[in-house]
Amino acid sequence: MLWTVFLLIGLLILVLIYSRRRQENEPPLDKGLIPWLGHALEFGKDAAKFLARMKDKHGDIFTVRVAGVYVTVLLDPNSLDAVLHDTISLDFTRIRNQLIKRIFSLQLPSVQTSSERKWMEQHFQGSSLFKLNSAMSVHLQKLLLTNHNSCNLSEWREDGLFSLCYSLLFRAGYLTLFETPDNAAATYKEFRKFDDLLTKLARCTLKREESKTASSAQEQLWKLLSPQWLSRQSESMSWQQSYLHFLQNEGVDAKMQKRALLLQLWTTQCNAGPAAFWLLGFLLTHPEAMKAVKSEMRGLSILQDTPLQHPHIHPLDTHSTPVFDSVLSETLRLTAAVMINREVVQEKTLRMANGQEYRLRRGDRVCLFPFLSPQMDPQIHQEPQIFKYDRFLNKDMTVKDEFHKHGKRVKYYTMPWGAGRNMCVGKEFAVTTIKRFVFLLLTHLDLEMCDPEAKLPSVNPSRYGFGMLHPDGDLQVRYRLKRMLHEM
Ligand code: HEM
Repeated sequence: MLWTVFLLIGLLILVLIYSRRRQENEPPLDKGLIPWLGHALEFGKDAAKFLARMKDKHGDIFTVRVAGVYVTVLLDPNSLDAVLHDTISLDFTRIRNQLIKRIFSLQLPSVQTSSERKWMEQHFQGSSLFKLNSAMSVHLQKLLLTNHNSCNLSEWREDGLFSLCYSLLFRAGYLTLFETPDNAAATYKEFRKFDDLLTKLARCTLKREESKTASSAQEQLWKLLSPQWLSRQSESMSWQQSYLHFLQNEGVDAKMQKRALLLQLWTTQCNAGPAAFWLLGFLLTHPEAMKAVKSEMRGLSILQDTPLQHPHIHPLDTHSTPVFDSVLSETLRLTAAVMINREVVQEKTLRMANGQEYRLRRGDRVCLFPFLSPQMDPQIHQEPQIFKYDRFLNKDMTVKDEFHKHGKRVKYYTMPWGAGRNMCVGKEFAVTTIKRFVFLLLTHLDLEMCDPEAKLPSVNPSRYGFGMLHPDGDLQVRYRLKRMLHEM
């Protein structure tokens, strides 16, 4: 007994001697009360709330301990370039590789992130984009409109808006990029099970039953995504086929190729559905915004030539829509919550915009959380919690891109797509998809809330850091095909 007490006291002394202290020129250090874990629980439960509390306590830069790792959080929007453009002292490959191993059981040691990025740019941008946009439009129209042609046109259907948006956009995206069209619905079902547990997988906090569900969904998805043509040659290459060829050329074995397809399914399909949900949800709960968007859409003179007849020339491609664009930017400002993480691979002095310098230790991490600042920063955006559909609109109906903090113009005033080296490759494709989807819905469907007094659900706080936020619950809506397309 006495020995145990001595041992414990000895351990305590060792912890006190070797535990980390703030050194000269380092950011304020907040280790939390729990040894090793530090702030991990609070961080995982609601990162936005926790980091806002730390910002109030320490300011725009501070270091917190999270499960044994020291993370320096930088929240000054004018100092972000010091992190985003440093490719010498800061690295993201190891963090990324750890995450994809944990979530997707995937290891791609032979694939250079720069060559994968280059491949993605070739396939989501430039000349590929036109083909992708057209295919996506055709699939969306088929899914949304032909499903309804079979039933009585005047019949209302009820659904949760989140399920409706996520399932339609997922299936259309899947049909556009992947090669097994007959299993889109089954893939969506398994994908949602997997996606719902993804944050817990990333934090290693799955309970036993959840772990079984996640593994089973993963196995199912690996099977569902395996195309039948893997062994044969076909003439024209789909996106999926071309990606598999890329992996083969990079020396990735067949098992890891299958797993990489799930990673790509998630990367390409996890954000557009939730974004469309929030956009439509904000419109439905803000009648003045809905009126302004519908009025702008009515102004698109080709409404008579519906996209059904001309899938390749879309009215949104030929007309500017400043109100709609502002609504999208405002939606993303409020609901896109990526975290940009880097590992400090060699000691670094971080110079803030105000000239102050901080030393970052090798082995620590640096984290940017644009959701908190700039997106929800009250010094940049007045009443940041409130949805203002014209926030990104000047009086002369041009795009508002000038925002200030302490009298100084801010370069990054909203960052839904990330920034720097791993900024979203699919941005243009995603914007076109979301806009076309919302346009299609508002021009072809009567859509209303089941309860006209309903409010948008709050966000699920465990999703901060993982891209588009998800709602806690759903918003019940009813919809039917419009009798006449001009009825808007
Ligand atoms: C509202 C919709 C979307 C949002 C808000 C969004 C946001 C983002 C963000 C913030 C990142 C950077 C992640 C990081 O730094 O860890 C990212 C990466 C990426 N996104 Fe998107 N995304 C959206 C839709 C899409 C779509 C539709 C595609 C393609 C079909 C796509 C393809 C990618 C790819 C391939 C990357 C990885 C880039 C890299 O690692 O270099 N995204 N996205």
